[in-house]
Amino acid sequence: MARIFNFAAGPSTLPLPVLEQVQKDLVNYKSAGFSLIEASHRGSHYSEVHAAAGAGLRKLLGLPDNYKVLWLQGGATLQFSMVPLNLLAGGKPADYTLTGTWAKKAIADAKKVGKVTVVFDGTEQKFMTLPKASAVKATAGATYLHLTSNETIGGVQWQEWPQVGVPIVCDMSSDFLSRRIPLEKFGLIYAGAQKNLGPAGLAVVIIRDDMLAQCSEELTAYLSYKVHAGEDSLYNTPPVFPIWVSRLVIDYLNGNGGLPWVETLAQERSSLLYSMIAKHPNFYRCPVDAHCRSKMNVVWRLPTEDLEKQFITEAKAAGMDGLKGHRSVGGCRASIYNAMPVEGAAALADFMDKFARKHG
Ligand SMILES: Cc1ncc(COP(=O)(O)O)c(C=O)c1O
Repeated sequence: MARIFNFAAGPSTLPLPVLEQVQKDLVNYKSAGFSLIEASHRGSHYSEVHAAAGAGLRKLLGLPDNYKVLWLQGGATLQFSMVPLNLLAGGKPADYTLTGTWAKKAIADAKKVGKVTVVFDGTEQKFMTLPKASAVKATAGATYLHLTSNETIGGVQWQEWPQVGVPIVCDMSSDFLSRRIPLEKFGLIYAGAQKNLGPAGLAVVIIRDDMLAQCSEELTAYLSYKVHAGEDSLYNTPPVFPIWVSRLVIDYLNGNGGLPWVETLAQERSSLLYSMIAKHPNFYRCPVDAHCRSKMNVVWRLPTEDLEKQFITEAKAAGMDGLKGHRSVGGCRASIYNAMPVEGAAALADFMDKFARKHG
């Protein structure tokens, strides 16, 4: 059966060569006589994968030595708790930007642990915009400023980073490894794997040494960044399958031009869709302000909900699935992560053009 163009928001499409490699190696890993997912996480086969995943990620990001990479379970959601538990213990303050559904969840958890100041609140604008980076100011004494680099549901993405004088802590779940970033601004980056990296359940945390040094010593083991950093993410059994797949994705990106390459592709894919929306202004409407439109999750509306349903059904029949907007906002959404071929975005743009001509 042919593979469709899968525009799902996550879990989402992965590079085909990676899936084929997994298929090839799944049952008998490199002639070991067993699968990697049947192997000890302390054995030589998995040890090689674990080390290569970390080294490959460091290479891809150009990560300096003063950052640790942690491979954790619990998805990005556990990080909504772990970040404040580690960094705000005892009620320390931090600044948060309320930019959409995911930021809201991060804030709700942080408020249970520390003192949270919301320095930007996009609620009134229905989360369809972001402030200018230069307008974001940190409050005195803030331990960090939390950003959600890309709001997967609302389709807003920071295109520039605030310069605030405190470390940025960033949920990069839905645009991790999709562009170059000025690492020096970030004290901690976390991302759930299931968009640009690998299977769900895994979260990667990148933490700078000075932030790690500040982390609480009072936490139970799994919640403690210090424990995971001290044990090279092998305090307990790591999620070996997601880490294995992530390692293959990382190798694939490193072997194909790295972040500059995916950045160009993201620009191409998103331009195809935003230009098509602009071409039919009386039929398609992107509700997001132009300066912060996401290059990963493109959202748009049609004139009626019935037409949206019809669009999604007909697109599916034409081999393009996952285009329904999140249930909380409706409309259409195309998630165009690294592994979505440019041809997929081109096919969708072409379908949009024909649909608008027919029904507009
Ligand atoms: C930006 C963002 N943050 C956090 C999450 C939560 O991730 P998880 O489901 O891995 O906990 C998601 C999930 O889609 C997301 O898009």
